[in-house]
Amino acid sequence: MKNLLFNLFFLSFTAFLVFCFNSCNKSGGNEILIGEYASLTGSEATFGQSSHNGLELAIEEINKNGGILGRQLKLITEDNQGKPSETQTVVQKLINRDKVIAVIGEVASSRSKAGAPICQSSKIPMITPASTNPEVTSIGDYIFRICFIDPFQATVMSKFALNSMKVKKVAVLIDQKNAYSTGLADNFRKVFTEMGGEIVEEQKYSAGDKDFKAQLTAIKAKNPEAIFIPGYYTDVNLISIQAREIGLTCPLFGSDGWESEKLTEGKAKDALEGCFFSTHVSADDPSPIVQNFIKKYQEKYKSKPDAMAFLAYDAGLILSEAIKRAGDTNGEKIKNELGKIKDFQGVTGLITINDQRNAVKPAVVLEIKDGKFVYKETIAP
Ligand code: PHE
Repeated sequence: MKNLLFNLFFLSFTAFLVFCFNSCNKSGGNEILIGEYASLTGSEATFGQSSHNGLELAIEEINKNGGILGRQLKLITEDNQGKPSETQTVVQKLINRDKVIAVIGEVASSRSKAGAPICQSSKIPMITPASTNPEVTSIGDYIFRICFIDPFQATVMSKFALNSMKVKKVAVLIDQKNAYSTGLADNFRKVFTEMGGEIVEEQKYSAGDKDFKAQLTAIKAKNPEAIFIPGYYTDVNLISIQAREIGLTCPLFGSDGWESEKLTEGKAKDALEGCFFSTHVSADDPSPIVQNFIKKYQEKYKSKPDAMAFLAYDAGLILSEAIKRAGDTNGEKIKNELGKIKDFQGVTGLITINDQRNAVKPAVVLEIKDGKFVYKETIAP
């Protein structure tokens, strides 16, 4: 009898230990676990590094101020190497193994589109700080973004081309396997021609190509007044140099994917002089909110924040706010609170999440001068 009682006691004690261990594992001790997937390496490494820094800064500040729901936040970051397939692997790991309660990622739309379905089917809220392709958030009701979308960005650059650059005959160069690039080109074609512009030539490339001379030569033959390139900085750097080499002298213009300090590296500094791109925020903005963020960021990272750093910082703040309002780490409750975010003051401006789980915000256009990005104008939605 004594033995039996002892055994029973021993068994229930073990069960209790297992239970504790499991629930600790789920909640990461007392910490709230937040997942992040980013391209820390690969051909768009500055996207991931910047957004990671911005997010890390937000989490650090929230923790210094006491955390959320009386608990500290813990960020678990995974590098997807800039690949959609690796994205699926790491997002699955964050959700199934690490048991994160929400996910922040990615910058590039194609990779957000790879990660989002996993978050959606696991009922884990995901916020992309910077993906602008509309299809990302239409994947489901757990997927949010805190930036504008590309139909707006295309309108911004159509208006800018016609009214500020005063160009009407434009060629378009498209990264054909990149959802962001093809989507933006489709929107631009539609809006620019509706506004009275003319597309004189369209050419395609694939990210990672090294030789763009054939496409650029075909474009040159049509004598455009400017070339719209909705692509990422690594390719645009090479494209700009080769355009000048074959004697194309017209301005090039593009979109937020250009934003990286690496855009103007080497000969591209001269090749891109006087060119323009649209993005989310300008470091020249004199508002104390923007300047204060730049100061904090520079103190910590010894470099200037770019748009992705600003946006990821805001994504961290908004997620924390939603967890706080939910009063709970339950995915469904957090998602409901994310949908109700209205006039939230971020470092990228006032953020309101609309019915499609997107943010409606102004865009800025920057001019490239001496390899630097200089504020040109703001275009409101
Ligand atoms: N908007 C781009 C995309 O959807 C990513 C990006 C955002 C790049 C901000 C630079 C700055 O792919």
